[in-house]
Amino acid sequence: MLPAFEASLDFAVAQDNNDPLNPYKSAFHFPQFQDKNAIYFCGNSLGLQPKSLSAAVEAELNAWKTLAVGGYFKGPNPWLYYQEYLTPSLAKLVGADISEVSAMNALTVNLHLLMLSFYKPTGKRNKIVMEAGAFPSDQYAVETLVKHFGLNPSEAIVEIEPLPGSKTLSTDQIINTINVLGDELAMVMFGGINYYTGQFFDIASITKATHQVGAIAGFDLAHVVGNIPLALHDWNVDFAAWCSYKYLNAGPGAVGGYFIHEKHVSNQALPRLAGWWGNDEKERFKMEKGFQPKPNASGWNISTAQVFNMVGLKTSLAMFDEVGINALRLKSIQLTAYLEYLLSQLQHVSFDIITPKNAEARGSQLSLYFKENGKAIHEALINNGVIVDYREPGVIRVAPAPFYCSFEDVYRFYEILKNNF
Ligand SMILES: Cc1ncc(COP(=O)(O)O)c(C=O)c1O
Repeated sequence: MLPAFEASLDFAVAQDNNDPLNPYKSAFHFPQFQDKNAIYFCGNSLGLQPKSLSAAVEAELNAWKTLAVGGYFKGPNPWLYYQEYLTPSLAKLVGADISEVSAMNALTVNLHLLMLSFYKPTGKRNKIVMEAGAFPSDQYAVETLVKHFGLNPSEAIVEIEPLPGSKTLSTDQIINTINVLGDELAMVMFGGINYYTGQFFDIASITKATHQVGAIAGFDLAHVVGNIPLALHDWNVDFAAWCSYKYLNAGPGAVGGYFIHEKHVSNQALPRLAGWWGNDEKERFKMEKGFQPKPNASGWNISTAQVFNMVGLKTSLAMFDEVGINALRLKSIQLTAYLEYLLSQLQHVSFDIITPKNAEARGSQLSLYFKENGKAIHEALINNGVIVDYREPGVIRVAPAPFYCSFEDVYRFYEILKNNF
């Protein structure tokens, strides 16, 4: 139940005082504006740095300094098993068994690797369905994947466009496209949340419809993990990948995560591009011929654990374990609704909120579409100490991440818009 909102600083401060997550604000470093914390609504792009990270990095530096190669087996977190320190928390965040998740590389690399395992164009069953306007990196990944198989992207890729007058897609429209393609469909490769509109798609229904026509369901969850609780195992999703630098606060270019459903993980017949880190640890150091993948998602690991790239994720996941994704989601729903309420009070600034109104169909982001002057307004916000981002054409994305954003931040943002535009 949402409280009756008020457009006042007193109301916002009272909400913060009642918010059990409010103390976590001081657990993060903020960029500074005029000697104060900037208002940071860009956690959908790059999450803030947890203050606990420096000591964790220092501990690994020290292990390297004092143990050198011995750090793989001794030290506070023996590096040989570094992925295993991440999987229990990742499994909780995405609703999976530990055996279904792992971390390696970065998001687009992992999408390529997973799509190579799961996309098997055979005869007329070669089509891939995506949302129109998917993140460009996903578009390039799918385009080059189908070319790799000798197919023509304009024939093999089916993009679902919003209906005239709408910026978002209905679940019926997506399912209808899947059904119409039927036995021509090989794979669905959808964003979980579209980066531009902020629309959260119905992953369970899309997956069910995809399976009913005999195809594979894969998702890019860059904007979802750490933002909205998931149940990937129960929803029967075949595979998914995400980055860790947005809501997971693991740092720029931090290691990516991925999910492969239990029904696939021990299938050694699934094609994959392998490396020794995916090999059974007991066999790994025998240095023998013959790849023997681990019978879990780690069987897709390729290279030596990138420890300094993973320490940010390990540190941040400890905070997610402490707070729990459900508590974060609860606050996120309230904070985003408060932002929406305040924006609705702004009669003289002209924009449309293109993110769905329904909380079930969005996370911590509202996308404001400005027919005119979007870029100038974005610059003016930055110059007033509000960090939001701008995406062509015309959209300012405002993402009050619940871990470190407050009701007061949202109110101050509203005040700046009200008084300056
Ligand atoms: C939805 C989505 N997919 C893919 C990417 C690209 O991720 P990476 O550069 O880690 O491969 C991003 C980056 O922001 C993204 O938002």
